[in-house]
Amino acid sequence: MSDSVEITSVLKEDRVFPPPADFGARSGGAHVGSLEEYRAMHKRSLDDPAGFWGEVASELDWFEPWTEVCEWKLPDAKWFLGGKTNICHNCVDRQVDQGHGDQVAILWESETTDSQGAPEIRRLTYADLKRETAKLANVLEGLGVKKGDVVTIYMGMVPELAIAILACARIGAVHSVIFGGFSSQAIADRVEDADSSVVLTCDGSWRRGTIIPLKANVDQACKLSDKIKSVLVLTRCQNAIEWQDGRDHRWGELVADASDVRPCEPMDSEDMLFLLYTSGSTGKPKGIVHTTGGYMVYTYLTSKLTFNLRPDEDQVYWCTADIGWITGHSYIVYGLLPNRVPTLMYEGAPNHPAPNRFWDIVERHKVTHFYTAPTAIRAFMKWGDEHVEKHDLSSLQVLGTVGEPINPEAWIWYRDVIGAGRCPIVDTWWQTETGGHMLTPLPGATPTVPGSCTLPFFGIDAAVVDQDGNELPANTGGLLAIRKPWPSMLRGIFGDRERFVETYFTKIKGMYFPGDGARRDERGYFWIMGRVDDVINVAGHRLGTMEVESAIASHDSVVEAAVVGMPHEIKGTAIAAFVTLAGDLEPSDELRQALRDHVAQAIGAIAKPDMIRFCDALPKTRSGKIMRRLLRDIAAGTDSGQDVTTLEDLTVLARLRGDEE
Ligand code: WTA
Repeated sequence: MSDSVEITSVLKEDRVFPPPADFGARSGGAHVGSLEEYRAMHKRSLDDPAGFWGEVASELDWFEPWTEVCEWKLPDAKWFLGGKTNICHNCVDRQVDQGHGDQVAILWESETTDSQGAPEIRRLTYADLKRETAKLANVLEGLGVKKGDVVTIYMGMVPELAIAILACARIGAVHSVIFGGFSSQAIADRVEDADSSVVLTCDGSWRRGTIIPLKANVDQACKLSDKIKSVLVLTRCQNAIEWQDGRDHRWGELVADASDVRPCEPMDSEDMLFLLYTSGSTGKPKGIVHTTGGYMVYTYLTSKLTFNLRPDEDQVYWCTADIGWITGHSYIVYGLLPNRVPTLMYEGAPNHPAPNRFWDIVERHKVTHFYTAPTAIRAFMKWGDEHVEKHDLSSLQVLGTVGEPINPEAWIWYRDVIGAGRCPIVDTWWQTETGGHMLTPLPGATPTVPGSCTLPFFGIDAAVVDQDGNELPANTGGLLAIRKPWPSMLRGIFGDRERFVETYFTKIKGMYFPGDGARRDERGYFWIMGRVDDVINVAGHRLGTMEVESAIASHDSVVEAAVVGMPHEIKGTAIAAFVTLAGDLEPSDELRQALRDHVAQAIGAIAKPDMIRFCDALPKTRSGKIMRRLLRDIAAGTDSGQDVTTLEDLTVLARLRGDEE
């Protein structure tokens, strides 16, 4: 573990907000209506997991029933053993079979607007999704994709992205979605790791009025990796693209010609559903493996209960994440569609063309459920209440947050200004690895406290422990641990068993270790204190400090780099890099810019350091370990991250502080 297991105390927060008395009446009834009911259900879910999860799973369709609910051979969990199902069936075909084919499944809004200022809006029903996923499934099979093959998806937020993942699920292909902000190098790395020869992309995607050249990035990735044999290209932006016959295929043409019949492949409950790459403590991103049955059941139930979804109550649910992240997988597509509540997908930026864009969307579509990240909330606070106040947000019922700890000021602003004090706030703690919500309030049951993600979801046995796994007393900082398996837990890191065991199951013996520090208060509520490994959370995007370090160090001018997180008003955490230069190179702003661009090329623009400081030497302990705590202190003390071009001798500071780390 890194030197950063240092849990700082937080201010005591004792404002408690009970669920609004009329929440049930306004929302068509609360699925879980009181804290007592929650506690009884939670107890049952732990005492009788087979009974509890068996009942939940029975709410969905299975082609063949399971014979055993859970098998746990630490660190390997299997759920619904022997069961056969298909998640695309439960998202799409099942709704059509039950007579809901003409209901809106996906409600999409473009970032672009016409001359009157109106966006393009597309409404896809379950019947549309059935047709389109079958067509695309046939196209994929035509390109040679077979059950178990990994299909890489690198697209903007268009409905076809959701169709793409569902089409993969339909035929049992494994999807690996890469967020559109990642670079061609990142695509090549992931394609190589996953051994994936088919890539789905768009000509470009719209972001804040400009086009991100997705196809050009894929072209470049093809030069870096010879794995890619077929590229299926959707036209979205009509930007100029290069074309390679034989390799590149036009989405529109192939789909138009494809049959719209392709039944859902019966999948074993433990067949792989998708890979999603995420950052860890070491340089290389890891492919998190999720399987079919457990993930399907858990995302279905968490969506239903955390947001209190009810299909016949005119709800409109909007999660502002990108499908390139786990939040989009679980809470735009897979958990939502089986609940038969329309899921809104918005293509672009929150402030395009103006900072009121989100609120305009909420008002026009009468959004009832809104789920976003603290970094966005802090940005809205900064842009000013006037952008919110000009809109009627009275449709809202539940507000959610995810991705990083939310500071109480932002929580209160969210509650008061967006929710007008009426809407429960669900602060959901979870991870790519957990597949679904782990610690979260339930809107009709759990009294909330600003900054706390409150209590474990059903089936989750969470605790704050020391490194030996002993539970710590109330209000003592320690490691967050999950002691029992849950249906949507990761099944592995693709191709790296050792790293899977080492990262998640050896730090605390016998328990899952998520990498976060936490404390529990006297109520039993959890307070997440952030990562205790070398992972940082920049504007809700997860990055490994070592990943950024190796990107910087791969530049010719650099000898060594150390990357730490530093506090940032909007992003929560920003990236600070300390760099030593080769030979007699002098620091300059040009070089600083060159290093930033270099990182953008190696990983993506989201990983560009906010601050780069050049130094003569990095502070190290006698054993040669970089003293990150010292660097963090320096970075945190840096006036608004202003760069200084002077070379500093940080070893002097290290000597002053002594070899403490
Ligand atoms: C952090 C995103 C505090 C945490 C779903 C976790 C949070 C990492 C919260 C996972 C929250 C996520 N409060 N911290 N409500 N939600 N985190 O894999 O450090 O992108 O380990 O999954 O984000 O990030 P990931």
